[in-house]
Amino acid sequence: MSRKLITLTINGDPYELAVRPNQTLLEVIRDEVGMTGTKRGCTAGSCGVCTINGEKGEAVLSCLALAVEWDGRSVTTIEGVQTGSELHPLQQAFLDFGAVQCGFCTPGLIMSAKALLDANPDPGEAEISEAMAGAICRCTGHIKVKIAVRKAAEILREEGVADGA
Ligand code: FES
Ligand code: FES
Repeated sequence: MSRKLITLTINGDPYELAVRPNQTLLEVIRDEVGMTGTKRGCTAGSCGVCTINGEKGEAVLSCLALAVEWDGRSVTTIEGVQTGSELHPLQQAFLDFGAVQCGFCTPGLIMSAKALLDANPDPGEAEISEAMAGAICRCTGHIKVKIAVRKAAEILREEGVADGA
């Protein structure tokens, strides 16, 4: 199958990639670029483990997104969330509040939560539940995940106040 050259910016770095018309963002990010933080689960839009963020910070199921349709656009993956060696408050809260066990779902959960908090810094319970509903964790369930998201939201709001944002 013939390939098309696309430019995709991942975590701020531009990549020129020769992709097949049917290749998904998930396949390109993992198999062509070699970033394996984004997980491959159902590949059918049902489990959420492949979630990344689009250019507006929105949650994107990378297993359903064709790479050719993202030519010239940008995405953020779990590898782009922390700052240097410092974990993002969501990553830290997931660790601190026991929301990580095997860790397979964690990148997708964090990218779903980041999309929520970037759009809504002070979400209520229902909004957190709705945003996380498509991301499945088979180990911890969602109670600790929701606690971690709430705590991270508090920390991010406090940091915003401290920064004068
Ligand atoms: S791998 Fe994308 S939703 Fe399951
Ligand atoms: S921590 Fe194992 S699937 Fe979520």
